[in-house]
Amino acid sequence: MEAVKTTSVIQITNLTKYYGKKTCAVDNLTLSVEPKEIYGFLGPNGAGKTTTIRCLLGLLHATSGNTEIMNHDSRNIPPEIRKRIGYLPGDSFLYNHFTGQEYLDFYLSLYNSSSEKQQEIIELFEGIKLNSPIKTLSKGQLRMIGFVTALQHNPDLIILDEPTTGLDPLKQQTVYSLIRKERKKGKTFFFSSHNLSEVQQLCDKVGIIRNGKLVKTESVENLLNVRLKRIKVVMQSELVPSIQNNFSKVDGIREVKSSKNTIEFQYSGDYHSLIKLLAEIKDIHDLTIENPSLEEIFLKYYSDEDSRSLE
Ligand SMILES: Nc1ncnc2c1ncn2[C@@H]1O[C@H](COP(=O)(O)OP(=O)(O)O)[C@@H](O)[C@H]1O
Ligand SMILES: [Mg+2]
Repeated sequence: MEAVKTTSVIQITNLTKYYGKKTCAVDNLTLSVEPKEIYGFLGPNGAGKTTTIRCLLGLLHATSGNTEIMNHDSRNIPPEIRKRIGYLPGDSFLYNHFTGQEYLDFYLSLYNSSSEKQQEIIELFEGIKLNSPIKTLSKGQLRMIGFVTALQHNPDLIILDEPTTGLDPLKQQTVYSLIRKERKKGKTFFFSSHNLSEVQQLCDKVGIIRNGKLVKTESVENLLNVRLKRIKVVMQSELVPSIQNNFSKVDGIREVKSSKNTIEFQYSGDYHSLIKLLAEIKDIHDLTIENPSLEEIFLKYYSDEDSRSLE
């Protein structure tokens, strides 16, 4: 049957992938990525991100469902479309004995591209080691080389599997600004991440995947409203019961754990109420306000959807 033509760059429809009979890595997943969008595919480890990406690229066969890139079925992407795709895999590198430069040049020759863009990206990544064999490089170095490989042939769609894992914060920022710059030139990005703040900084749209299911698709504005914080207060002296009582009265406080002189909780709500509450404690020795883990966010904001989908 002829598929309906869409304007989406990526169209995944009811994708299901089992490994063997029992492990369902991706479960009836549907999503689309539009031109010039930066789509963040967010989920904890083992959620099914890599499996989805590998099915999408035709590197793995789906158990059922349909995946398309630029209106071409993933199992049958013609070479001229392949040329317009850049891919940074999450894990291994082939051709371990190549040096970084040989590796990059090899891939460039497959695409018959000029080395102009290669040079441009290499210059952004200070300290990239191009003359050592791939097998001797650190994870961060490999990511940088992977990043150049994904972009050097000037593709229109760039698919990145956890691009910043193993990179130091400075290099992460380089990656972010490069992605923004390329998007301005009209490129489309689909990238996976388990880092909420990363997708908040970069993406237009975020699909949240958990246990192989797409739990939610959010615009980034909505995600920015996820104001959950994890707070820990250490006091000089022992916690007095009246303070503890006050904590239980404030809306938005949950998961309170207290010991002798420490109180820990999750907070989502108006920050002024929180500051007022904290100001009542006169002997704060240490105060930590952290962003919650992705798992905590799932439990707070998406547990309803998740429990429904588990039925
Ligand atoms: N080659 C494989 N064989 C069997 N199970 C696998 C294989 N690859 C991944 N899985 C399982 O599939 C699920 C999804 O994995 P993956 O797609 O790698 O998730 P993510 O990229 O989000 O960390 C996990 O439960 C993982 O253990
Ligand atoms: Mg993965």
